[in-house]
Amino acid sequence: MDTLNQITKDAWNANAQVWDSKMGNDGNDFFNILCWPALASLLDPKPDAHILDIACGNGLTTRRLAEMGAAVTAFDFSSNLIEYAKQRLTNYQSQISLHVIDATDEAQLLALGEAKYDSALSNMALFDMADIEPLFRTLPKLLKPGGTFVFSITHPCFNNASSMHVVEEMDDGEIKTVYSIKTSRYMTPYSMRGLALRNQPKPQIYFERPLQYYLNLAFQNGFVLDGFEERAFPPEVPQSTPLGWGGKFSEIPAVIVARLRLRP
Ligand SMILES: C[S@@+](CC[C@H](N)C(=O)[O-])C[C@H]1O[C@@H](n2cnc3c(N)ncnc32)[C@H](O)[C@@H]1O
Repeated sequence: MDTLNQITKDAWNANAQVWDSKMGNDGNDFFNILCWPALASLLDPKPDAHILDIACGNGLTTRRLAEMGAAVTAFDFSSNLIEYAKQRLTNYQSQISLHVIDATDEAQLLALGEAKYDSALSNMALFDMADIEPLFRTLPKLLKPGGTFVFSITHPCFNNASSMHVVEEMDDGEIKTVYSIKTSRYMTPYSMRGLALRNQPKPQIYFERPLQYYLNLAFQNGFVLDGFEERAFPPEVPQSTPLGWGGKFSEIPAVIVARLRLRP
């Protein structure tokens, strides 16, 4: 596990510059169309809320949360990405604190402060973590009673590292082009190399887990699921590449966004 975690950290440090220049301050279609609208509506923070932004990358969601009026404590285990986040978020210094912390390390997580956060958020990062059990064990201590944890992940059924994007042509009286997803692995957790961005210098490792893994881990640690969205691109959204995610796959959700809440 440690080796995979170290390989993952090295990859994110190596890819930090490409990631930062691609995501910028405003993010890509995946973020703006699929993730953020559902994250924002499930989180629905009070203006003075204190939110923990888990695996914040270059601070994309950190900025959005600050713009909603929240105080944000954000962390990532890539020191290079945290440097980019610091540069990008200089105007929000009074609301934001940024830290280099490894989410697989319970002691580091506890140092963030107990019973301090109204909510936690993690955008597109849990499947990048070699081990999410320390995080799910620690979050109930970091959150205030009744606190929420809202996260987005690639849809474990349709958008995991084994998923293949397929295009076929059929004739049922008229010629039709059919876009679909073929998946060969789902039930057993596995890890596989992959590219978040096509031009990144180093592949990272994806850690794929079925939905029941996430939900049972949450239930065992005192959460209930009280919000859930499956997110697909609307038909009018152009393809990023001929077979990439876009409107041709509008019946197949690429992302899920979930809200967990601590049981009273
Ligand atoms: C796909 S990026 C998403 C970044 C950010 N949440 C965003 O929306 O732009 C995944 C992030 O997870 C971080 N990450 C992976 N494993 C981690 C860990 N064990 N602890 C902290 N961050 C981790 C990576 O460094 C990377 O910034």
